[in-house]
Amino acid sequence: MHHLRLLEYGSCDYQEMIKLRDEILRKPLGLHFTEKYLQQEINDVLIGCFETDEENSRIIGCCVLSPIDDELIQLRQMAVREDLQRSGIGREILEFAEKESLKNNFMTLMMHARYTAVPFYERNGYHILGDEFLEVGIPHYEMRKQLR
Ligand SMILES: CC(C)(COP(=O)(O)OP(=O)(O)OC[C@H]1O[C@@H](n2cnc3c(N)ncnc32)[C@H](O)[C@@H]1OP(=O)(O)O)[C@@H](O)C(=O)NCCC(=O)NCCS
Repeated sequence: MHHLRLLEYGSCDYQEMIKLRDEILRKPLGLHFTEKYLQQEINDVLIGCFETDEENSRIIGCCVLSPIDDELIQLRQMAVREDLQRSGIGREILEFAEKESLKNNFMTLMMHARYTAVPFYERNGYHILGDEFLEVGIPHYEMRKQLR
């Protein structure tokens, strides 16, 4: 069983989220998070997907939403535990993020998508805007979807 929920900045859940992000998004690139980078997330929307049984609750996926202006919000740090990728969890997280963005009156959701993740976002209604660029040393594309 799994469920999605909002996380509190600095909580134990948040620490678990950082571990997952580090494992999936940073370590493979030989990078790590700095304290300063994480401090900027204090006002972001933090989303986690948790696998639950009678005793434990473990994070299996996550993303972060950072408002850009009154209408535009950016999805960042989207990650699903490696052994569970391609089983629909990413889509559930993205749909949850879209609902949260709508609740907070944002019109458009955007992201800097790694080129390897572009097909995933395309399957979920996002389109590429502009040219390829480098971020954390790998090719990315800006992608967007109009939420309403
Ligand atoms: C990218 C990622 C978040 C997607 O989550 P996921 O749980 O694996 O994706 P889902 O199983 O929900 O896939 C949803 C749809 O996208 C498709 N899809 C997912 N990843 C894909 C890929 N790499 N290439 C082509 N299609 C893909 C799935 O086939 C599925 O299509 P369907 O509509 O036919 O069922 C996850 O694979 C991941 O964490 N990857 C490593 C980190 C990363 O790249 N993060 C994104 C940074 S921008």
